[in-house]
Amino acid sequence: MVRKRAPKSLIEILPTLVFCTLFVLHINQILTHLFLSDKETLNITVKSTQGGTDTCAGRYVYIHNLPSRFNDDLIENCEAYIELRNKCKYLVNSGFGPRISEDDHNHTTRVLTTETDPWYYTNQFMLEVIFREKMKHYECLTNDSSLSSAVFVPFYAGFDVRRFWGYNVKLRDELGEDLARWLRDRPEWRKMYGRDHFFVTGRVGRDFRRVSDQDSDWGNKLMRLPEFENMTMLSIETNSCSNEFAVPYPTYFHPKSGVEVKRWQMQVSMMQRRYLFSFVGANRPELEGSIRGEITRQCLASEGRCKFLDCGTSKDCGEPVKLMEVFQDSVFCLQPPGDTPTRRSTFDSILAGCIPVFFNRDSAYNQYKWYFPKDHTKYSVYISEEDVKNGKVSIEKLLVKVSEEKIFSMRNEVEKIIPKIIYTKPEDVGPEKVEDAFQVAVDRVLKRVSLFKTSII
Ligand SMILES: *[C@@H]1O[C@H](CO)[C@@H](O)[C@H](O)[C@H]1NC(C)=O
Ligand SMILES: *[C@@H]1O[C@H](CO)[C@@H](O)[C@H](O)[C@H]1NC(C)=O
Ligand SMILES: *[C@@H]1O[C@H](CO)[C@@H](O)[C@H](O)[C@H]1NC(C)=O
Repeated sequence: MVRKRAPKSLIEILPTLVFCTLFVLHINQILTHLFLSDKETLNITVKSTQGGTDTCAGRYVYIHNLPSRFNDDLIENCEAYIELRNKCKYLVNSGFGPRISEDDHNHTTRVLTTETDPWYYTNQFMLEVIFREKMKHYECLTNDSSLSSAVFVPFYAGFDVRRFWGYNVKLRDELGEDLARWLRDRPEWRKMYGRDHFFVTGRVGRDFRRVSDQDSDWGNKLMRLPEFENMTMLSIETNSCSNEFAVPYPTYFHPKSGVEVKRWQMQVSMMQRRYLFSFVGANRPELEGSIRGEITRQCLASEGRCKFLDCGTSKDCGEPVKLMEVFQDSVFCLQPPGDTPTRRSTFDSILAGCIPVFFNRDSAYNQYKWYFPKDHTKYSVYISEEDVKNGKVSIEKLLVKVSEEKIFSMRNEVEKIIPKIIYTKPEDVGPEKVEDAFQVAVDRVLKRVSLFKTSII
């Protein structure tokens, strides 16, 4: 079919998200159209779980037992790579990082839950480690790959690309090419030529889509290898539509049960919020066209209605308790793009029940479709980047006009998103488990593979 080839060649010409969005919408429509009955079948499979039938039917995942050079060696030798060194300390506790203790900060128990047990100093790039640990505890694992609906490839792609920042392209591409060969030679590959394979990375998609083989170009070319073009990649930010999907950045909160999540949601809903809005971030004067300067200016001019935490000068931005304190104290949280359109801060602020304000559709709406309500006006405010740039809009005036009822209903939506964007502890399994970011992702991957199985795309 034409659609099968279209994305590949078009991506090279038009590598923009806008295009991708249109394309994905198109495909989704076609799929929804063609597969209404498929959805119904999926529901039936899930429902039949209580009876004597196999509760995992259609949900089995096989984990490839990769040689350690593709994962464990990378983090074991973390300290050996200059580029990774300051990340190494965050690898502990399944990639959640060191635990936050009550004594770390005077406000800890006032800001976080009184039991600080679910809180960690989580680094934003640890998702591949976290996800693999979660996958090891997934309830429907199988060692029999003929039974599996999907195949998980526990490759630490982000650690691999990061360790060779600035080195020559040969070195940067080596391990990915090695893995491609390894995968292609497995019997599991022949089943669907990789269409049922997926992997997760804690870095942004563009790090893996280098456009040429010049050393000066960014990243490696992992996602341009033919084998990886057949696989599904989950990452914290995508810039391609064909086989990449965005999943939430990890937050600091990793509870072990639904009870802990509910308790937190309750706490969030009762918070008194001192500021109308806040901006936590650094100015980017060197970044042409960045609206952060204007946002900072407006925030500082608001006479106390806006809280600005300047990450350019203050160390507090590395301090989860301080960050969460600001988000909890604010009704709205401004999320302007930085180096890339998405921000980890979006997820931390949602966790704190703060209503996000976006300036670019690629910051969230075009990204986390598996996670956020389709109608973005339900949980967020959108102000166009252009209007801010042209000085056409006063953020304060705009936000002050939002009614109490609207704020209440938006915050309600934000609170409902919380369980879906957190990564609970790996041991959180069984019937009472939280439908967290991991669970949502695995379900969507399984659904995607099942669509391939009907061999339409
Ligand atoms: C907590 O407050 C006490 C007294 O105000 C102060 O001496 C101490 O340094 C503070 N600790 C931290 C971690 O901020
Ligand atoms: C798969 O095999 C390994 C090694 O024999 C074993 O430790 C693991 O429990 C098995 N997993 C499943 C889901 O059967
Ligand atoms: C990718 O999938 C297509 C179609 O399923 C197949 O023809 C092709 O050989 C696969 N590529 C690799 C490298 O296996």
